[in-house]
Amino acid sequence: MFRVANVEFIPEFRQEESLEFVSMASKIQHVVSNVYKTSSVARLYKQVVISDLSNNDKGGVLVHFWMVFVVPQLKSPAVCEECVGAILRDSVHTSLKNRSSVGYLLGLPVDIDSILVNVVHRSDYTSSGAGSQCVDKLHANLPGASVPLNVYSSWGGVSCHVKLTSVPGSLIRLTVSAFFIEPSDCVSEALTVYDALLPMRGRILHRLCEPVSSSFSIVSTSNVMLLSFRMTNGNKNFRGHFEAIADEVCMSQIETHLDPDITGKIYSPFHPSLLPPQSSCTWKFETPNAVLGVALRFHNYVLKAKGLKGCEHGWWKINEIIFCGSYVGHNTVFRIDDHSPKVEFRCSSRHSVQPFHASYSSYNISQPCPESHFLCSTGLCVEKSRRCDGLDDCQDESDEVFCSRPTKNCDGHSPLHPLFVCNGETDCANGIDEINCTQETTCSAIRYQCSIGSCILKKNAKCDGVRDCQDSSDEADCACGRPSVNKVGSSTGPERIVGGVNSNEGEWPWQVSLHFNGNLYCGASVLSSDWLISAAHCFSKERLSDPRYWSAHLGMLTQGSAKHVAEIRRIVVHEYYNDYTFDYDIALLQLKKPWPPSLGPLVQPICLPSPSHTVTDSHRCWVTGWGYRYEDDKVLPSVLQKAKVSLLSQTDCKKSYGPISPRMLCAGVPSGEQDACRGDSGGPLTCRAPGGGRWFLIGIVSWGAGCGRPNLPGVYTRVNKFTSWIYSHIS
Ligand code: ARG
Repeated sequence: MFRVANVEFIPEFRQEESLEFVSMASKIQHVVSNVYKTSSVARLYKQVVISDLSNNDKGGVLVHFWMVFVVPQLKSPAVCEECVGAILRDSVHTSLKNRSSVGYLLGLPVDIDSILVNVVHRSDYTSSGAGSQCVDKLHANLPGASVPLNVYSSWGGVSCHVKLTSVPGSLIRLTVSAFFIEPSDCVSEALTVYDALLPMRGRILHRLCEPVSSSFSIVSTSNVMLLSFRMTNGNKNFRGHFEAIADEVCMSQIETHLDPDITGKIYSPFHPSLLPPQSSCTWKFETPNAVLGVALRFHNYVLKAKGLKGCEHGWWKINEIIFCGSYVGHNTVFRIDDHSPKVEFRCSSRHSVQPFHASYSSYNISQPCPESHFLCSTGLCVEKSRRCDGLDDCQDESDEVFCSRPTKNCDGHSPLHPLFVCNGETDCANGIDEINCTQETTCSAIRYQCSIGSCILKKNAKCDGVRDCQDSSDEADCACGRPSVNKVGSSTGPERIVGGVNSNEGEWPWQVSLHFNGNLYCGASVLSSDWLISAAHCFSKERLSDPRYWSAHLGMLTQGSAKHVAEIRRIVVHEYYNDYTFDYDIALLQLKKPWPPSLGPLVQPICLPSPSHTVTDSHRCWVTGWGYRYEDDKVLPSVLQKAKVSLLSQTDCKKSYGPISPRMLCAGVPSGEQDACRGDSGGPLTCRAPGGGRWFLIGIVSWGAGCGRPNLPGVYTRVNKFTSWIYSHIS
């Protein structure tokens, strides 16, 4: 697009059938064609179409247009986004007069600074079925008049565009109240909201491919927005509205109260709308006196010192020091030990992201937490008595690491440490740690919860072959984790991978090989007849998130000999997955069709651990996959490899790696001889209790420093932290 100066915008320009539009468009078309037909890419240039004229607060007319280039593979470097833009810019440049930014192209006054060229994929703009294209244009005037958008059900098309414009200087707020869509792959069925009038790839604000249950809103960065509906099945239903809103300057002066219990709130720009790209905010705080600082209590958001990489989910400058924000599943407190700090926020994402809010208050700089409380690394304050009690009160385990070894207290005089209680292993010679384990008790994260809601002490009650819950729910849905062949430990074939050996047919029936574009890229595990579980980082880049490129190979021992190859319907990546820290590295894959039950013994789900599930020293754990066999290996093994590893405590893991989140779990052997490696990602770390118990999915291969290095264990996603997240998607 570009801006034509010195032309007055008239409302007729919004109607592409109007005489005014047609004559303006043909003039511009002539000029643009002329530029490209006399350029270095003349032979590749095919046509230009002026699609819209709009106006902003700079005056003149904004021209939105698309051009078609037909490019043989060899010539593709000549038509890059920047190159095509540069051609237009160069032409304007040679006609610049004086100091103005407006140059005259065959008499057309074009503002050089406004030229923006972006790649649009033809498939985003047109649909395959001819004549199924529909376009609607709507305009909103200030102030606050809301325009309903219930237009859609009457359309028959596969690909429909709704173009929204509003008065110059305003922004558009789109509210989606209801949207019915089959959960899908997000490619063939989706509503994409663009921060432009054309479907520019670099200007996607938001993409919707799941049904909307509660209404939410999205704000644009200028006075245009495009909704692109792409649906294959006939039953579409969209309800919502949009309105013009004034751009807000997010800046405030805040005086905090002397009493730390009195709080106020700060919000992300346009809250509760999604946070638009490029938005920013500045808060200047002032506490009543110099001994008081400012405490910001964030909901599901955390600020951390900026590392070498940029910030992905918010860029913060607090008294000239830079921090990055990220989304997490718990609250945090950020304290600024200054009585008049300046806090600046800038959105660092190209898309709209979740809004945030925080409550602020004063706090005593010399004593951040009340007496008898412990200060967590998350900034939370917890009672000192909760330190080393086996529960993660701090939300980052800072109250549970570097604890002295818990004493067992087997004599019965003082209470047993919760870690030893009913963990399935007799820790006390007199056996008192394993009695009355099915008695009902108050619930906590380390106790097993039955379906009716009551909790029992036994930690690993699920699918252990004993009815522990009154409602027997602990033994329901237990068709999992029991391979028909059980030769674990016996080695067949030569030593391979990072200390692994060949597996046997049917030994790991939940193991999946995930292929991207036909090549092994990650591992996964079978959860049910149509769901797999894997790691989020396998799908984090644009193309990797498209389910159409993936296939799942099930019931396979040797690469190429899968019993079943399944296509993927959709990929659900955890909403808090963090590309920099690998926190929340978990994803679910839904198959297009369930695998046939006749695959029975060779394909089988793995058991999901309950949140209370604990792995003791007597459990045996194995990691499996077709990944590399040593750090700089060049060839992947063809037979599924297995390696026996032990789980490390979080304390020991932090000694190797420093920051390890509660969602991570380390496993390996001190020498490093057994480990996972590249290509194993997303695959299972499974453990079983002694005596022929079932196998449970304890970890998902996530990351590590190199492979098989001494004292640098493999890091896995801690699956029992995600039990309810998993069930919320698959059941
Ligand atoms: N991220 C790796 C992958 O994509 C897995 C790394 C596991 N490394 C390790 N040393 N355990 O396959």
